[in-house]
Amino acid sequence: MADNRAVAYKSPGIVEVIDVDYPEFELKDGPGVNPDNVGRKVPHGAIIRTVATNICGSDQHMVRGRTTAPANLVLGHEITGEVVEVGPGVEFVKVGDIVSVPFNISCGRCKNCKERKTGICLNVNPDRPGSAYGYVDMGGWVGGQAEFVLVPYADWNLLVFPDREQALEKIMDLTMLSDIFPTGFHGAFSAGVGVGSTVYVAGAGPVGLAAATSAMLLGAAAVIVGDMNADRLAQARSFGCETIDLSSGEIAAQIEQILGVPEVDCGIDAVGFEAKGHHGGQEAPATVLNSLMDITAAGGAMGIPGLYVTGDPGGVDESAKKGSLSLSLGTGWAKSLSFTTGQTPVMKYNYGLMQAILHDRVHIAKNVNAKAISLEDAPRGYAEFDAGAATKYVLNPNGYLDGK
Ligand SMILES: NC(=O)c1ccc[n+]([C@@H]2O[C@H](COP(=O)([O-])OP(=O)(O)OC[C@H]3O[C@@H](n4cnc5c(N)ncnc54)[C@H](O)[C@@H]3O)[C@@H](O)[C@H]2O)c1
Ligand SMILES: [Zn+2]
Ligand SMILES: [Zn+2]
Repeated sequence: MADNRAVAYKSPGIVEVIDVDYPEFELKDGPGVNPDNVGRKVPHGAIIRTVATNICGSDQHMVRGRTTAPANLVLGHEITGEVVEVGPGVEFVKVGDIVSVPFNISCGRCKNCKERKTGICLNVNPDRPGSAYGYVDMGGWVGGQAEFVLVPYADWNLLVFPDREQALEKIMDLTMLSDIFPTGFHGAFSAGVGVGSTVYVAGAGPVGLAAATSAMLLGAAAVIVGDMNADRLAQARSFGCETIDLSSGEIAAQIEQILGVPEVDCGIDAVGFEAKGHHGGQEAPATVLNSLMDITAAGGAMGIPGLYVTGDPGGVDESAKKGSLSLSLGTGWAKSLSFTTGQTPVMKYNYGLMQAILHDRVHIAKNVNAKAISLEDAPRGYAEFDAGAATKYVLNPNGYLDGK
């Protein structure tokens, strides 16, 4: 039954919009579906008609061929939608609800979920803790860059917006709740940002800009964003960040020019394993982690939402191909730094951030320069995003975002 359209990974650099099946309350076999998940019944699930679904830097790692993602894997883990069907085990979520879907899939029943560590749920991915829609090695849950998508454990996973009309009015902001806003917030929160903190954010992509926005929301005194992409740095300045162009000098010296001291209280890595070296742009996967250890003050903390992998076919050397990086951990040890890594436990933050959006405390869509494009235009969105556009692309598969 090919009555659904979705964005699929084809080969390095290529995505296509293809016909796929309309979801059922069962996880069927397909590209990237873990054999132990095939045939899994989902009576606790809901089928969502997608309102907005965003392209993420995490998708780009797969699309660049830097993972073992198989051809035809349906992409998309940043999903906001309208509930159109619920399974027999769903008690509270209703058809017609407008909902945000945390990108982590979690069961709400295991030890980790009970502690709100929903990024490492034990029951949704047969291979390892943690799962997401449309992502390699994450159990095979079908991605949501599509007209329709299945969400398991709907009562637990879905964040229902209180008012449909208000939700649709603020939808370009609310769509950031599925991933990048909580992810940026987690980066800032776990780096210890509070009132009066000085903060350095590596990376001015959407996650870096969301982290900078979050640092401001948490009361930071100064937020400095570093990148080598001039347009993205201009975007960071548009809402009050200081910026550092990494192609034109050492980070510590540039921080000193801004703050008077060559260090910050809190460091955030919003880049990950495809980090470029600061001079010449060659890939240097440990460079962000090492430079954060250098410039974060002793006793400080580093939030690391940037993604690191256990296998990278395009790694710069044999170690990097296994996800093994050359860290100067001695620096971190000597300074008693603490680190937080991993998938963001979206559910820990999404309700509060929703309230901040609904009460006009924050304008995340403007800060990340969100732009709606059609589902059929997804290949262009991927290409422009990969080329470094200072834009967060939001796909509009069902027309809800027309005129946004
Ligand atoms: N932990 C999570 O749950 C989670 C969730 C979402 C995204 N992520 C990850 O966060 C990272 C950022 O996502 P994004 O969508 O903003 O990606 P992106 O690729 O758009 O942005 C990365 C930015 O980093 C810049 N950069 C490269 N090398 C740098 C360096 N050495 N120093 C500073 N900047 C450098 C690039 O120019 C680019 O602008 C990715 O690794 C993504 O996979 C993690
Ligand atoms: Zn994402
Ligand atoms: Zn769980």
